[in-house]
Amino acid sequence: MTLCVQEALLQAQAQGLTRLEAEMLLLHALYQSTHARAWLLTHESLVLSPAQLEQFKNSTQRRLNLEPVAYIVGCKEFFGLTLLISNQVLDPRPDTETLVMWALETLNTALNTTPNSRPSVMDLGTGSGAVALAIQHARPDAHVQALDCSAAALELAQLNAQQLNLNVKFRQGSWLEGVLDTFDLIVSNPPYIRTGDAHLHALRHEPALALVSGADGLHAIKQIVPSAAACLKPGGWLLLEHGFDQAESTRNLLAEAGFKNVQSRPDLAGIERCSGGQKAL
Ligand SMILES: C[S@@+](CC[C@H](N)C(=O)[O-])C[C@H]1O[C@@H](n2cnc3c(N)ncnc32)[C@H](O)[C@@H]1O
Repeated sequence: MTLCVQEALLQAQAQGLTRLEAEMLLLHALYQSTHARAWLLTHESLVLSPAQLEQFKNSTQRRLNLEPVAYIVGCKEFFGLTLLISNQVLDPRPDTETLVMWALETLNTALNTTPNSRPSVMDLGTGSGAVALAIQHARPDAHVQALDCSAAALELAQLNAQQLNLNVKFRQGSWLEGVLDTFDLIVSNPPYIRTGDAHLHALRHEPALALVSGADGLHAIKQIVPSAAACLKPGGWLLLEHGFDQAESTRNLLAEAGFKNVQSRPDLAGIERCSGGQKAL
């Protein structure tokens, strides 16, 4: 059996993939950049070789089994950067761009840094390095550090930093345990799903370490908030991503730890997705 580009796309969509997913997987099978979606339009009648067809069918099956497209094609666009992605790290989500935008806004406006001082930033639970690298790319003047407890994640984050020529300093550790530096800004997209949550089945290809955080989903946030208070400079900010229903609990934890200006920000769907606060001056 042979299929041309147009037929392959239609067949994958009939099986349940979105047009975008089918295009990304087909470009990968054809050894084209996953940015080159316009290329498919100009090659609609190109007939796939048997090896390309086999690879495309295999990728389609993997996606139908709910494996993230990023794991199949090995990369993902995040905040304008192309990141290498493997199943050792969370597939970075567009919603996390809310955290990055808030972090950049905080660096630009709220932080009381003098014109020549270089702000210091820490990204906790960096995974692929997505958040730290996006901040470092947008603010080359910042000293960005990032940590994760997973050695495999740190290896990939380091590779991403090298590929993007960004000078983020990575370290292995459990949240802020043993961190002696102080920062102007601490950001984190920690694991925040409840143990046994029904959504976990659909997320089964991603590392549990990146997703699950105790019976209430707040285990990591409860560890990060008080320790961040100790690792921030006076007037510094802690910004956290959390679950769709965790904004109020996170704001309460921030207020209990003494943070001022406690507030939340919505994600692209209008759901309160990030909360943060400022250490008193
Ligand atoms: C939700 S993922 C976020 C990954 C990345 N920042 C992003 O937004 O795509 C959470 C990350 O926290 C890391 N993590 C889990 N427990 C940790 C701990 N105790 N200390 C440091 N990192 C931890 C996981 O390995 C994972 O990379």
